[in-house]
Amino acid sequence: MNKETRILIIGAGCFGTSTAYHLAERGYTSIRVLDRYPPPSCEAAATDISKIIRSDYNEPLYARLGIEAISAWRSWPLFNGLYHVPGWILSASNLSLPFVEGSIETCKKLGVKGIERLTPDSIRSRFPVVTGKLDGWNLSVWNPTAGWAAAGKALERMANAAQENGVHYISGDKQGYVRQLILDEATGQCRGVLTADGTKHEADLVVLAAGAWSPSLLDMHSQLTAKGHAVAHIQLTSAETKHYSSFPIMDNLELGYFFPPQADGIFKIAHSQFITNIRKDKNSNITTSIPHTFLQVPEDGLPLEIESQMRRNLRRVLPELADRPFCYTRLCWDADTADRHFLVTPHQNHRGLFIATGGSAHGFKFLPVIGKYVTDLLEGTLDADIVSKWKWRAGQKVEAKNLAHMDPDLELEDLTGWRGRQARETSHASKL
Ligand SMILES: Cc1cc2nc3c(=O)[nH]c(=O)nc-3n(C[C@H](O)[C@H](O)[C@H](O)COP(=O)(O)OP(=O)(O)OC[C@H]3O[C@@H](n4cnc5c(N)ncnc54)[C@H](O)[C@@H]3O)c2cc1C
Ligand SMILES: *[C@@H]1O[C@H](CO)[C@@H](O)[C@H](O)[C@H]1NC(C)=O
Ligand SMILES: *[C@@H]1O[C@H](CO)[C@@H](O)[C@H](O)[C@H]1NC(C)=O
Ligand SMILES: *[C@@H]1O[C@H](CO)[C@@H](O)[C@H](O)[C@H]1NC(C)=O
Repeated sequence: MNKETRILIIGAGCFGTSTAYHLAERGYTSIRVLDRYPPPSCEAAATDISKIIRSDYNEPLYARLGIEAISAWRSWPLFNGLYHVPGWILSASNLSLPFVEGSIETCKKLGVKGIERLTPDSIRSRFPVVTGKLDGWNLSVWNPTAGWAAAGKALERMANAAQENGVHYISGDKQGYVRQLILDEATGQCRGVLTADGTKHEADLVVLAAGAWSPSLLDMHSQLTAKGHAVAHIQLTSAETKHYSSFPIMDNLELGYFFPPQADGIFKIAHSQFITNIRKDKNSNITTSIPHTFLQVPEDGLPLEIESQMRRNLRRVLPELADRPFCYTRLCWDADTADRHFLVTPHQNHRGLFIATGGSAHGFKFLPVIGKYVTDLLEGTLDADIVSKWKWRAGQKVEAKNLAHMDPDLELEDLTGWRGRQARETSHASKL
């Protein structure tokens, strides 16, 4: 690889954008990024009003990367005004207890300051704004160094900086939408991609960074599973916004997570039991979990069981808000690996093709730095320990121990009320 190597990145989410940015920083001059949507891509998991930025991990690799990323979030002028540090409470109820115990250990070993175990009583006395019983918040830890970032804005700034550095972005439902990889019939080498408008984009090196959409575009041999996360928002009044401004980030790995209100009074809550949608992709014929988003199907809404569980979970924390209407809901999709390690690797059979995704519900915080590691991989200098954790691992039995988010996945087809829900409720409201 040399500085003129024609590099094409599929997907301008967290992994793709950071990779483009860091390649340009290192002087590569021919970088194209294709996405179905202009930056910040409205479908990317990375495009959101808030994402948690923390170093609490059981696995030392991500704790170290988290500390490195936090330093970037704090100090890079690029992210000025986008990073907020209210601190967070990480908690588990049952299946994720070993993960939380492990993170406390790892954080202490790495010298993170201010880590403190809390009980429901000590949480309520430290944060009087928390009125719930916190039932099921069986093991909780406070980390004052954790915060949240205005994720979509950060993604957009990084994409703009990459473009100012010469990266060429191609977006749009036709021009930017990759439908197929171009593979050499004889050698299997990847020579570029074909987009929905029929254009062939030739390249020396292709990086697949299409997040949850990756496994329906290319057979990933079950290494990646697209999982949908339910997110809901409640509009607070300005008095309430002020009242809840002392609310920290509260995250129970099994009972949902809750953010401090945004300046405009939007209070965001998310569910930690994930949804798969297993079917056949019409274009590639691959059968796998495929993202189902409300952007593609605006008449659909959250499954009824998920909404009730989210409200039960909110009642444990802020019961007074548990029955408030949701002003906006979303199914947000990420690609999970079985061991939650990223998948950042050359493809096993197709020369010229690299994979950089598998965020496994925790990738966003690394936006400032992940592309540096992907670039190291492309240049062949990535640390051997990281190479082995992020390698192509089809067919390998994974020891799924002490992981976050151990709840079994729910299949969308088995859930009720979501199909046509938005359309039904809108038409009902318009008749009132
Ligand atoms: C609800 C939710 C909450 C999360 N919270 C956190 C958090 O608090 N902290 C944290 O660190 N992480 C969090 N994550 C995880 C994080 O958002 C992801 O791990 C990360 O965004 C994954 O990056 P990615 O680049 O692989 O995918 P994405 O960011 O989803 O980007 C993929 C991009 O590929 C594009 N694309 C897909 N298919 C094609 C195609 N065929 N052609 C062209 N473009 C295509 C999409 O349009 C999209 O822009 C959360 C994820 C979700 C869903
Ligand atoms: C989770 O709960 C079950 C049943 O109550 C119990 O047997 C199990 O030990 C618990 N798991 C952990 C990690 O505490
Ligand atoms: C945690 O709390 C819940 C709800 O209070 C309880 O049912 C459960 O048994 C507890 N789990 C463990 C592992 O202690
Ligand atoms: C998918 O299947 C259809 C119908 O069998 C076929 O026409 C099409 O070429 C297949 N596409 C791919 C990418 O294999």
